[in-house]
Amino acid sequence: MSNILLITSSPRGEASHSARVAAELAQRLAARTPGTTLKLRDLGAEPLPHVDGAFLAAVAAPDRSALAPALREAAERADALIDEVFAADTIVIASPMINFGLSTNLKAWFDAILRAGKTFRYTPAGAEGLVKGKKAYLVVARGGIYAEGPLKAVDYQEPHLRTLLGFIGIKDVDVIRIEGVAYGPEHAEKALKAALAEVEAIAGAAALAA
Ligand SMILES: Cc1cc2nc3c(=O)[nH]c(=O)nc-3n(C[C@H](O)[C@H](O)[C@H](O)COP(=O)(O)O)c2cc1C
Repeated sequence: MSNILLITSSPRGEASHSARVAAELAQRLAARTPGTTLKLRDLGAEPLPHVDGAFLAAVAAPDRSALAPALREAAERADALIDEVFAADTIVIASPMINFGLSTNLKAWFDAILRAGKTFRYTPAGAEGLVKGKKAYLVVARGGIYAEGPLKAVDYQEPHLRTLLGFIGIKDVDVIRIEGVAYGPEHAEKALKAALAEVEAIAGAAALAA
């Protein structure tokens, strides 16, 4: 029995390349083990609010029963997002590149789940991630090409994602890139096909290892 958490985060809805490829990967991984649960968290369809002072006070409040209902709900929703991460063995994250980095939808999710004392803690030796033993796959989609060439230096998406995941203890991370989709429909089609071929290879290798 294993649990897969699929996070999608594009503002482009049905047109999202990252969501399509990530969903394919999650479904293929789920299909290899009977009884696997697949939980979808669609941050594009259901965006999370930005973190503000009231929210931070609410999650830290020792007695939540004293909070206004909306704040209590916001704190409980963030707790539920953290629970989803701990419950998952495998996390598949679809990330569209927006202005060289993460979509605000995905950033808001990380803002909700990176919480001291829950997903990481500070020790005399520095910060320690508390989310152990997880496998993560990142499916990143970009208009340009960042894996190599002149734009590599301004890829603030993949390094940021690796840093955020690593900070909470998730270091086993594989990346599937869908790149150059803004270079025209033919290029986009080719990039999508290449990414789906990678999904095929990952799912096939995972099935052999299972
Ligand atoms: C508001 C906006 C900003 C974008 N910024 C960038 C960017 O900085 N660099 C880039 O290569 N592509 C950029 N793109 C193109 C997207 O990365 C591309 O459309 C990608 O496919 C989005 O992922 P998705 O298909 O999962 O929605 C941007 C697209 C939008 C809508």
